[in-house]
Amino acid sequence: MLGRLNHVALAVPDLAAAVAAYRNTLGAEVTEPQALPEHGVTVVFVNVGNTKIELLEPLGEGSPIAAFLDKNPAGGMHHLCYEVADILAARDQLKASGARVLGDGNPKTGAHGKPVLFLHPKDFFGTLIELEQS
Ligand code: CO
Repeated sequence: MLGRLNHVALAVPDLAAAVAAYRNTLGAEVTEPQALPEHGVTVVFVNVGNTKIELLEPLGEGSPIAAFLDKNPAGGMHHLCYEVADILAARDQLKASGARVLGDGNPKTGAHGKPVLFLHPKDFFGTLIELEQS
């Protein structure tokens, strides 16, 4: 089921500062900020060749990363995103195995315009997992 690592996501309290650090200090290629109101975040991607780093800043009230940043005010690793060929088949297989899919269980459109789902971190050793249809 599991395909490539699409990205590693870091929640950051100040996206402009994080972009400057990746672009200027680390010399990385960083995309322009993209607001995703449906997900409550503003996002950029850092291209590192074999995968991407997603930098997330809260957007609006009730952002799903606000509580994470309350616990980790300097920022930190928020989730891993793996590619799957068929997200609905993956969801059904995971649910049949007892894994919990977050939200209403239906895929949302992610930052790449493709369907995504999130899996409960308690089912995967404390790591939030995003699945993206490849
Ligand atoms: Co992500």
